[in-house]
Amino acid sequence: MAHERIKGLSMKIAVIGTGYVGLVSGTCFAELGLDVVCVDKDKQKIKDLDHNIVPIFEPGLDVLIKKNVEASRLSFTTDLKHAVSGAEVVFIAVGTPPDGHGGADLTYVHNVARELAATIDDETVVVTKSTVPVGTGEQIQSIISKENPKLKFYVASNPEFLREGCAIEDFLKPDRVLVGTEASEARSVMEALYRPLSDRNVFVIHTDIKTAELTKYAANAYLATKIGFINEIADICEASGANIEDLSRAMGIDHRIGANYLKPGPGFGGSCFPKDTLALRKMSDDYNRHANIVDAVIRSNDQRKIAMASKIIQACGGDVKGKNLAILGLAFKANTDDMRESASVYIIPELIKNGAKINAYDPQAMQQAKALLPQKEIIWHDSAKDALKGGDAAVIITEWEEFADNGFLNDVTTLLKTPILVDLRNLYTHDRVQRRGIAYHSIGRKPV
Ligand code: UDX
Repeated sequence: MAHERIKGLSMKIAVIGTGYVGLVSGTCFAELGLDVVCVDKDKQKIKDLDHNIVPIFEPGLDVLIKKNVEASRLSFTTDLKHAVSGAEVVFIAVGTPPDGHGGADLTYVHNVARELAATIDDETVVVTKSTVPVGTGEQIQSIISKENPKLKFYVASNPEFLREGCAIEDFLKPDRVLVGTEASEARSVMEALYRPLSDRNVFVIHTDIKTAELTKYAANAYLATKIGFINEIADICEASGANIEDLSRAMGIDHRIGANYLKPGPGFGGSCFPKDTLALRKMSDDYNRHANIVDAVIRSNDQRKIAMASKIIQACGGDVKGKNLAILGLAFKANTDDMRESASVYIIPELIKNGAKINAYDPQAMQQAKALLPQKEIIWHDSAKDALKGGDAAVIITEWEEFADNGFLNDVTTLLKTPILVDLRNLYTHDRVQRRGIAYHSIGRKPV
C-alpha cells in the first residue's frame, strides 16, 4: 500500500510545471521536509533554477529555493520519467490558460496525464494543483486508465489558495488545506504529506474530487464578489459624499461579513480572479445553470477599470490632452511583477487615446509591462522621481510601499508642475495630503 511505503521515510514527490503554483508548492513541500523534484519542459528555466535564477518575483522564494537545494531536498529536471520514478505523489501544476471561450484550456493537463500513464509507479497518487474545472479529475482518471489499464493509481484534487506576493506564508501557514479524493489510499497518503501542517493545527478538509475542484472556483469568485461589491459602494460614496474607508471598517467588523477583501481599488486583476470568474460562469452555463451574480461581478469589474481612466481625466480638470501624467505602479497589486489583467493595462491605453503623455514606473513590473502596453507611446522611467519630474499630475495604480511614505509626498509637491495626485489605492489619509497642499483624489472619499 502506498501509505505503508511512506511510513517513517522521507516521502518523495514530483511537481510537474514550474510556473507560479508549481514552483512555490514544490519549494514549500521541500521546506516541510519532503524530497521534491520539480519538472518542466522548458530547458532554459530548469538551467536557470539550477543556478538559483528564479523566473518570477516572489518575496523570499529565491532564498527558500537555495536553502532546500543545498539541503538536497529540492531539485529540478526536464526528465519527467526520472522525476516520477519512486514518487508517492505527483502534482500536476501545469498552466490552464483561458481557452478563448471563457473556459480553461486543459491541453497541458491532459498531455501530462498521458505521460504519467507511461511513467508512474503503481500506487502513485496523481494530484491536480492547477485550478481545473469540475470533472477534470475524472478525465485524468480515464486518460491514465485508458493508456495503461494495468496501472494501479489514485487521483486527488488539492487546489492551492496562494496569493502572489505572500505565497510562501500562504502555503506554510494556510487557513486550510483542501484534499478531494474518493480513494482511501490516496487520502492516507495526502494526510501523511500534510502532517507537518496538520501537526501545527492547520485544518485539512477532505471532500470528493468534484467538490474540491469547485470549491477553488467558489472561493475565488466569492472574494472577487466582495471586491466588486465594495467598489460599487465606493462609487455611491463618491456620489453621495460618504466615506468608503469608514464604511468598510464598520461593515467588516461584523464577523459575519469579515474585514478582508473589502478594500476598494481600481478593479481586481491578476491571473486568478478574472480567469476563474470567467471559468465559473462558463461552467455554470455548461451545466445549464446561470451564475448571475458572478456574471455581474465580471461585468462590473471590466467596466470599473475603464471608468478609472475617466476618473483620472476628471481629476485633471476634464482634459488630459498634451498633459504629462506620472503613472506609478503597473503590476496588478504590490509585491509582484505580474501584469496579468492589471487595471493599468486598461487605464493607460484610455489615457493615451485621450491625448495624455504617459510617464510610467513600477518597482518590479517594468519588463512585463513593456510587453503588454503600447511601447512607443509611453516614456519608461527608472524611478518615481523621474516619472514625476515636470508632470501635470500623478496617478497611483499599484499600492507599492514606496508610494505610501512622506518622501513620496514631498516629491509629488516639489517635482510635479501642479501637485495633483490621483490615488486609486487610498494610501493616504486626507490629513496627510491636505497639509502639503496636494489636490488629492482617491476612491470613495471626497476629493481634497
Ligand atoms: C488570489 C487568491 O487570493 C488566492 O487565494 C488564489 O489562489 C489566487 O488568486 P492573487 O491573485 O495573488 O490571489 O491576489 P489577491 O491578493 O487575492 O488580489 C487579487 C486582486 O484583488 C488584486 O488586483 C487586488 O489588488 C484586488 N483586491 C484584493 C482589492 O482590490 N481589494 C481587496 O480588498 C483585496
